[in-house]
Amino acid sequence: MLSRYTVPMSDPHETLRQTLTPLLDQTVDAALDYLSASNTRSVAATTPLVTLRQRLDLPLTDQPIDPEQVIDDLITGVEGGLHDSTGPRFFGWVIGGSLPAALAADWLTSTWDQNAGLYATSPASAVVEETAGRWLKELLHLPAEASFSFTTGCQMAHINTLTVARHAVLARHGWNVPQQGLFGAPPIRVLTSTERHETTMRALRFLGIGEQNIHALPVDDAGRLIPSALQSALEAEPNPPTIVVLQAGDVNIGAFDDFTTLIPLARAHHAWVHIDGAMGLWANATPRLQHLLLGVEQADSWATDGHKWLNVPYDSGYAFVADATIHRAALAQGDAPYLTNSTAARDQLPYNLEFSRRARAYPTYAAIRQLGRSGIADLIDRCCRHCHTLTTRIGALPHAQLLAEPIINQGLVRFLSPTPNATEADHNAFTDQTIAAINHSGEAFFGPTTWRGKRAMRISVSNWQTTDHDIDRVVAAIAKILQSSAA
Ligand SMILES: Cc1ncc(COP(=O)(O)O)c(C=O)c1O
Repeated sequence: MLSRYTVPMSDPHETLRQTLTPLLDQTVDAALDYLSASNTRSVAATTPLVTLRQRLDLPLTDQPIDPEQVIDDLITGVEGGLHDSTGPRFFGWVIGGSLPAALAADWLTSTWDQNAGLYATSPASAVVEETAGRWLKELLHLPAEASFSFTTGCQMAHINTLTVARHAVLARHGWNVPQQGLFGAPPIRVLTSTERHETTMRALRFLGIGEQNIHALPVDDAGRLIPSALQSALEAEPNPPTIVVLQAGDVNIGAFDDFTTLIPLARAHHAWVHIDGAMGLWANATPRLQHLLLGVEQADSWATDGHKWLNVPYDSGYAFVADATIHRAALAQGDAPYLTNSTAARDQLPYNLEFSRRARAYPTYAAIRQLGRSGIADLIDRCCRHCHTLTTRIGALPHAQLLAEPIINQGLVRFLSPTPNATEADHNAFTDQTIAAINHSGEAFFGPTTWRGKRAMRISVSNWQTTDHDIDRVVAAIAKILQSSAA
């Protein structure tokens, strides 16, 4: 039998509201239950793969199923299979939570289900995106005339902006990528530091700039690209098409390159300067940290995220290009006479890689309005303070070692094996074991990394809900785990 949801409703007395009410009520209840259980639930997922498959890997059905049943099955199916990454004690990778207004706006984005490609396909979505883009530039202190794109994340923001960089540096050498393609083009050289994030490398590989053209230059003890290394690299060849990728907050210790020195240096050699500011660009949203980004506004392009520090739900990234004309030229659409382009409003398509797309700006718009300038500054400052406390307190515990005191919201510790005459390999193994034990305890979640040859635990604080009490609770839990593994 066909479900009442399978075909358009024929019963004139059954309104859409009546039909959807039980389904959406059920969804709201499930969401509230989920979001309010952070104090009692394990932070790490606990359900094993085999069980998740038993519950979720179902045969494809021939017959329709009532939506209430579908949603009910989904909720029970994922039970224990989600990390509590929206909660206050999740410190893995760099994953932000969801601000209430952003979450609600995200639901509405799906409800309205607009195609936000053009002003013509969704007028209000275009105006909201235009406005949220302007707010972001103000918050991040980027040039007012810069163009922007709302992407699915920072990786895609790199692809967006580095596509523009490739276009621009080849154009300076008389090569027109849209017309001539890449075969036979002058090779592009990329100069960056050893601390660059893999997503910039991946973006460059996608764009046909092979690994052998990417040069990872050395950094100083603070993780900052050494200016003389950049200068020598720039001078090594007489100005081939060059892209310089700099770091605003690296993933391990949150290191910031020295933009006031490096950007003019790169500029003097006609290089395009791109900034990976996935979390670090947000330092400009608080007066306390703005010194870290001095000079960053002189770059040609910037990439950052909303789903990390702004606490917008996934997927949310932002790409900015100083010269809007080049942005449009690189991503220009071909002939599609059925599209209606606006002359009065901002069409999004000329700045995006997608054609059809989600009206992705609504949750960002809502998040910024919910917090305002002062609320965002407070969120950034609070996360940095919690990260500093958490990292230094864990680092001071017996059998722990502070590796990197946080500059922003990223810290590193490692754990020292209690075995007599322990080797570096023992400490590395003990670090991994301790991280696994902490995650298994359900009290907090952290991820590992290898930093300067040592295994380490990354401490990333990016959630609006984390409190002093959470920090105390996590330090106490880790102290207990270390005590029992040393016993
Ligand atoms: C420094 C840095 N750049 C880029 C990225 C990629 O961001 P996304 O996961 O949003 O694509 C990350 C992710 O953690 C990052 O830490």
